[in-house]
Amino acid sequence: MNLFETINQTTLPDSYKNMSIEQLEDIVRRVKAEMGNRLFIPGHHYQKDEVIQFADARGDSLKLAQMSAHQHEAEAIVFCGVHFMAETADILTREDQHVYLPDMRAGCSMADMANIQQTEKAWEKLISRFDDTILPLTYVNSTAAIKAFVGKHGGATVTSSNAEAMIKWAFTQKQRILFLPDQHLGRNTAYELGIPLDQMAVWDPIVEELIHEGPAEDIQVILWKGHCSVHENFTTANVAQVRSEHPEMNIIVHPECSREVVERSDYSGSTNYIIEKIEQAPPGSEWAIGTEMNLVNRIIQEHPEQTILSLNPRMCPCLTMNRIDLPHLAWALESLTGGNPQNLIKVEDSTAHYAKQALDRMLERS
Ligand code: 13P
Ligand code: SF4
Repeated sequence: MNLFETINQTTLPDSYKNMSIEQLEDIVRRVKAEMGNRLFIPGHHYQKDEVIQFADARGDSLKLAQMSAHQHEAEAIVFCGVHFMAETADILTREDQHVYLPDMRAGCSMADMANIQQTEKAWEKLISRFDDTILPLTYVNSTAAIKAFVGKHGGATVTSSNAEAMIKWAFTQKQRILFLPDQHLGRNTAYELGIPLDQMAVWDPIVEELIHEGPAEDIQVILWKGHCSVHENFTTANVAQVRSEHPEMNIIVHPECSREVVERSDYSGSTNYIIEKIEQAPPGSEWAIGTEMNLVNRIIQEHPEQTILSLNPRMCPCLTMNRIDLPHLAWALESLTGGNPQNLIKVEDSTAHYAKQALDRMLERS
């Protein structure tokens, strides 16, 4: 049997739980040195420091997808991020390249808010109501099955870095869009593009109903009722508190935050946008950041010349991103060289085929 044909999803052996940090770091360094260019470790900016220090490249969702599409050398890609990102990497790499996720429990609560059965049912109802006037767009934070559905229907994936360009493109294709699964990114982006809120409806997949007041013919954007459980924790009360305690402070948030938070902030943009904005700011400027805590803490450490805090002082990191920790990374790497690779991510061929169409339409425009 080929080394890479083993598909198993076991849990972390106790031996790794009992190792010291030095032992775990030694394993990672040793495997990286041994495998060289045959191994590639991409890491999302929301990963813990203990993991991201070993990433060969770090990025936001768009950059990670672009890197996967251009990664032709490595035979093993150990993805430090969440499940949908590893699936995307598998779809965008060759058949003989293999993607592993160090902990299969590293999912995404937003991606879990839309499944393919719900999507097919919603589509049927929406098409019977609006005929062939809708183009589906899905945030990359979605399952491969939903990306395939979107690809099959002529649509594309979107990330927070290119949502504006992709929504503009979508309206050159059809009169309406269905935007899955993050209502906030969809609403914030469409609003910035000049679409009034009363021309946006919300599809509730639980009660299978379209929520909208006013004439249905006016609807241009149908937002899936999903959200990020991390970014939803930034509130208008947090904004008000920063404004009253630090009147000079700039507030910058990710567009996965609610419309109310985004409209009260000074700046809004993707993970990359936030990082670059702070990098380019003059020394001594003050920032309250509304995004994931591992990243906010890293930005604080990297910019001692600025005053930076989290918009919500009680904010926690993304718990599923945090599933990837040093013991899981060491285990994933050592199992590769030990001939018993763990946690292979393999998207079934026909799903991957259509999902790639949706991803390619985005990558061509990014
Ligand atoms: P970006 O990487 O596109 O900023 O998305 C943030 C996020 O929540 C990833 O899960
Ligand atoms: Fe999902 Fe939000 Fe975590 Fe990103 S930050 S992985 S969208 S739960």
